[in-house]
Amino acid sequence: MAITNTSFVKSSSSVTQCPDGDRPEYAFIGRSNVGKSSLINMLSNNKGLAKTSSTPGKTQLINHFIVNNEWYLVDLPGYGYAKVPKTQRKAFKLLIDGYLKHRGNLMCLFVLVDVRHKAQKVDIEFINKIGEWGVPFVIVFTKADKLKPVEIEENVKKYKEDLLEYWEELPQMFVTSSTGKSGKEELINFIEEVNQTW
Ligand code: GTP
Ligand code: MG
Repeated sequence: MAITNTSFVKSSSSVTQCPDGDRPEYAFIGRSNVGKSSLINMLSNNKGLAKTSSTPGKTQLINHFIVNNEWYLVDLPGYGYAKVPKTQRKAFKLLIDGYLKHRGNLMCLFVLVDVRHKAQKVDIEFINKIGEWGVPFVIVFTKADKLKPVEIEENVKKYKEDLLEYWEELPQMFVTSSTGKSGKEELINFIEEVNQTW
């Protein structure tokens, strides 16, 4: 699938304000600063589409972008970053939980984790929670440009082992770099496949 057109639709401060759920939707979640907004820009060939920042806590609302006039990409606030003030973290959690529980057209949630770090408690807790809620998800490792291929392989292997302590089956996984523009085709192909099930 070629991405020919992407544009910003709206920012929402609750799931009830989101655009009509009349088309398939894919959302990006993960710790603040993990690279959610950057990945959306990489996928859409548009550096300035989603706002990025080296300071965690940049994305504060539910942001909808429309792709090829057919499906939505959604940028969400991050969770669990100690440097983000506690009140803000609480507000993000309410917003994210409401969105995940009530957005019927959410086809798949991309859970982003920094490939440099081993499984963090906050990520495992989040993954276990959405598993209980029955939210379909995959794991997307980010910032692959920061490691050598053999280190990436080791870290992904370790991550799988950690997840297998809680899960009998592993979710699909992707390795990406927004800076290096890698993993793009795999993600777009995945979205194209899932779109067929709409
Ligand atoms: P919040 O909105 O604050 O939750 O953050 P976010 O997850 O949207 O992260 P964002 O895309 O704003 O990126 C955070 C920082 O990481 C920025 O300084 C980016 O330039 C950097 N970054 C994002 N993706 C990559 C990547 O693939 N490689 C490298 N080296 N840096 C990246
Ligand atoms: Mg962001």
